[in-house]
Amino acid sequence: MTQGLASLETPSPAAANSVRAGRIAALRLTLNNFRNYEHARIETEGRSVVLSGENGAGKTNVLEALSYLVPGSGLRGAKLFEVGRMENGKSSPWAVAANIERSAMAGHVSELVSLGTGLVENPKGGRDKRQVHVDGEAVRTQAALAEHFSAHWLSPQMDRLFQGGAEGRRRFLDRLVFSLDPAHAGRTSGYMHALRERARLLKDGKMDDAWLSALEETMAAKGVAVAAARLDVAGRLAERCRALDGPFPFANLSIDGLVEHWLGEMPALEVEERIKDALKKSRNLDAQNGGAGGALEGRLAHQSDLLVEHGPKGQKASVCSTGEQKMLLVGLVLGAARMAADDEGRVAVLLLDEVAAHLDARHLIALFDEVADIGAQAWFTGTDAALFAPLKPSARFFSIDDGHIEARD
Ligand SMILES: Nc1ncnc2c1ncn2[C@@H]1O[C@H](COP(=O)(O)OP(=O)(O)OP(=O)(O)O)[C@@H](O)[C@H]1O
Ligand SMILES: [Mg+2]
Repeated sequence: MTQGLASLETPSPAAANSVRAGRIAALRLTLNNFRNYEHARIETEGRSVVLSGENGAGKTNVLEALSYLVPGSGLRGAKLFEVGRMENGKSSPWAVAANIERSAMAGHVSELVSLGTGLVENPKGGRDKRQVHVDGEAVRTQAALAEHFSAHWLSPQMDRLFQGGAEGRRRFLDRLVFSLDPAHAGRTSGYMHALRERARLLKDGKMDDAWLSALEETMAAKGVAVAAARLDVAGRLAERCRALDGPFPFANLSIDGLVEHWLGEMPALEVEERIKDALKKSRNLDAQNGGAGGALEGRLAHQSDLLVEHGPKGQKASVCSTGEQKMLLVGLVLGAARMAADDEGRVAVLLLDEVAAHLDARHLIALFDEVADIGAQAWFTGTDAALFAPLKPSARFFSIDDGHIEARD
């Protein structure tokens, strides 16, 4: 069950009501004891950034550091202690901080805020704690970060998205949904909470009907809302990408899930009733399976899959060439970024790790043009800085060598 659960872990509900318009850019990024960096600082002036260096130099680590300013577990999904700089087999407390600018579309700065996060040693012993600071003040939850910063990422790990299991695609879809419909976080965390509680009760053999019914009612209501939001965003995004007729192939998107299927056949309220009935019936079976995994539950929202087809070719993404798969991913991420920018004036930061790999020269230039057109601050990495030469007038260039960063422009 945990595999399914993780995929719904999007930022918390507090983010939902507080996402404001504007272009977000990181002005200064500092890393302390993060991965292979003892201390590093990057000044961007709000421009896009190109990080180049040899394999293992520390390029992805910089993007990962920035991704910790989005609630969640970063672009590698690593454990918090893993990212602390390892020395003599011991991991250190670490910190990432950035000054974040939000500019209204007319170009003037409407907010300047400093964000920080990291792992601090627990002075009383016991587990180390993640801390989050906004303008130097400690805040209780990571959710506060989402009020000030948002980013999308593409990493080489995602190159196998269409070959791997459903979880990765579901996580990718939920990120896309969240970027266009921030209230998605509240639905998913509400669903998750009820799912976990129910699993715990069943596992412990606490067959309390009222309690279980209340949780199943929440699961049904939130599960329907999650599925409806996924259907809505997948539909709108696919339609927009197709209409944009951009340089990247459009994707046909569909969702393979029981709730999504039912929503196509009957009114939402009826779907909720069906889910509640089915969950009630599967209690005993779920209890036998350690709280999870009943016949029906296995196809609820935490198990849905995103099916992607190369639109122009009408071919499943999983059988497309590596470059075609990359183009589909780039097209979806840029499409979502463009929709948020055009429709709501929200321009998030793009973290594009090794994005040049598998893209031919024409599509790489098209990518640069799209990013410029959307107006996003993009962080590119690559082993060969020359590939990014067309960005020279607008981006800042840095070279990285074994955890040391130097400006090159
Ligand atoms: N916790 C850690 N402490 C110290 N070093 C670490 C830690 N985690 C990872 N590293 C090291 O950081 C180095 C840089 O990793 P990173 O993935 O950023 O390289 P990269 O420049 O993106 O390389 P590539 O071009 O191969 O993708 C690696 O050698 C890795 O072993
Ligand atoms: Mg890398």
